[in-house]
Amino acid sequence: MEVIVLDDAQAVAQKGAGLIAGLLNSKPAAVLGLATGRTPLAMYHRLVELYKERRVSFADATTFNLDEYLGIDAHNPQSYRSYMDREFFHHINIKLANTHLPACAERENPRHVGPRYEAMIRDAGGVDLQVLGIGQNGHIGFNEPGSSLGSRTRVKTLAERTLKDNSQAFEKGEFQPKLAITMGIATICDARKILILATGKHKSQAVAATVEGPVTAWCPASILQMHESVALLVDQEAASQLKNRDYYALACRENEALHQRFGQFLEDV
Ligand code: F6R
Repeated sequence: MEVIVLDDAQAVAQKGAGLIAGLLNSKPAAVLGLATGRTPLAMYHRLVELYKERRVSFADATTFNLDEYLGIDAHNPQSYRSYMDREFFHHINIKLANTHLPACAERENPRHVGPRYEAMIRDAGGVDLQVLGIGQNGHIGFNEPGSSLGSRTRVKTLAERTLKDNSQAFEKGEFQPKLAITMGIATICDARKILILATGKHKSQAVAATVEGPVTAWCPASILQMHESVALLVDQEAASQLKNRDYYALACRENEALHQRFGQFLEDV
């Protein structure tokens, strides 16, 4: 795992957007796995700027989001479909037909959604780059602590901690779903490259457990230690509990020289 400690959340957004744009410039028909939540928002907004500056095009890209709530429809402003349209898709030149979320249609059996989503990802050629945030409890997607490390897209019950963290997005008295359909941990690990973002002090414990703790289903993000190509972009606050921080900084500096000669994880724009 390449741990890249940046000054602040803005630098994380900037770097993340640069890496995604770089991928699209070298592979215009790339398949992106995307996340919602507060963390990647600034990165999506930066990508919109890069698109407007004509430094990236999404015309041939395909996307698969990690997760979608169960029990609210796509038009509900709280759905992850609404989030993605509002914050990102409606401001770039992506074909909406090429954007996918694991949504369950009305009256559809939610257990049918996962296998169908897996098949769609496979048919698209697999995910080239998966963007992830991380929950304070170490979840990725909605794979809560204890989720099988071999899990595939399926219905998950959200943990109390996640419900509390995400409740800020809901008005008092507004229906907050307790279930979601999420890519599984094995689905996420199938991606060729993974870009995980974490910002803020409240993520520091989860980041330390992910990078320096044991690989365990109790911190689902720790499975990323087993993946061959992961870049973790963190700000100073999120990095604050990493014991091996000096080493990551040293490795980044050393890698920089190699990157300049031989290319990097992904080419920045
Ligand atoms: C979102 C998702 C979640 C979030 C995580 C962090 O699609 O799958 O795993 O990435 O809950 O959320 P924020 O960024 O709001 O702290």
